Amino acid sequence: MRAIVVAESYFGNTARLAREVEAGVAEVMDTELVSIEGAPEDLRQFDLLVVGAPTHAFGMSRPATRGEAVTRSGATGALVNRGIREWLSGLRPRPVGLAVAVFDTRVDRVRHLPGSAASGASRLLRSVGAVPVTAKESFYVTGAEGPLVDGELERGREWGRRVGVLARERAGSRTLSASAVYARWSIAWLGGSVLAVLNGGVRDLFLVRLLDEPQARRLSTLLLLLLLTAYMAYLHRRWPLTGARQALAVGATWVSLTLAFEFGFGHYVEGKPWSTLLADYDLLAGRVWLLVPVWTLLAPLVIRRVSRRAAAEPPDGGDAVDREGPDVLGAMVVRREPAGLHLDGVDDPLDGRAVVVDVPDPDAGA
Ligand SMILES: Cc1cc2nc3c(=O)[nH]c(=O)nc-3n(C[C@H](O)[C@H](O)[C@H](O)COP(=O)(O)O)c2cc1C
Repeated sequence: MRAIVVAESYFGNTARLAREVEAGVAEVMDTELVSIEGAPEDLRQFDLLVVGAPTHAFGMSRPATRGEAVTRSGATGALVNRGIREWLSGLRPRPVGLAVAVFDTRVDRVRHLPGSAASGASRLLRSVGAVPVTAKESFYVTGAEGPLVDGELERGREWGRRVGVLARERAGSRTLSASAVYARWSIAWLGGSVLAVLNGGVRDLFLVRLLDEPQARRLSTLLLLLLLTAYMAYLHRRWPLTGARQALAVGATWVSLTLAFEFGFGHYVEGKPWSTLLADYDLLAGRVWLLVPVWTLLAPLVIRRVSRRAAAEPPDGGDAVDREGPDVLGAMVVRREPAGLHLDGVDDPLDGRAVVVDVPDPDAGA
């Protein structure tokens, strides 16, 4: 798989983050990083596109905001002509079905204000058929020119890695049809039954010597639950379950096969009476074997959910970045006015009131 990370940046903050994001994605697949100036129009050779852009006037940059940023930062004039917005609109052929993830940088102090470059880019990408693999993400700068808030580079790398994992999962389940995934999981039940037999062997050979029989049975049930969970988590990494319904179908198939094996083999091959076989399920007699079929039914669903949540959520402490600090906006002032002046590039007035963004020349007051 191949990914491309495209970044637009004037003061260097989005570019620095893009390098970390790229390093994160590169833990999972081949990746290249290009700035907006060198971004290709044809993305057919890539399996994942990651876009990073600075928030300008509550959205993606426009010629006027880029002009402002270029003047202030001294970045190259070529950037005024093309930002993420123009580049995405010019992609040929349209990136239909391409996995994408979008991030932006914005000022920490006004993080509660709506509108960001990532929202706009995400909308634009969806409108041309691309498929987001995760929710858009914002990273924060302490002032219009930066620097980034402490911890954001690390968060960027982790986000990049998660994006890579999600894109790979999506590609994995796309290359295998849902029925192929189901068939593989059904065959993989054999591996689960081998684990159960081995676990029973360990109980009969070792545990019963160390503990009394009920204790040995309970411990061995617990061990089997852990083994099955680890095995199914491995299977889900290899053949990601394509949906909740499929996860339940796989669980039900595994339970049916397990019960058929346990009772069929136990009764017809080993000659055990039904009452002996059913005794394992007698909760009132302190037998907890019932947990095995119940967990076997639910585990695929739970594992799929946990894995999706782990991949989509920010890492622990992601929100705990230092939000105090110097006057965060620096030279930039954001205010609302009943009837204000629109800075070029403001898409939507908030609450019917105009949004005014003043980005005074830092040298003006000097
Ligand atoms: C013209 C202009 C408009 C801006 N508008 C916003 C804004 O609406 N909201 C915000 O959070 N930051 C705003 N910023 C701050 C930028 O988000 C910040 O400069 C950017 O994250 C820095 O990224 P870069 O170093 O990659 O250029 C604006 C900056 C400029 C130059």
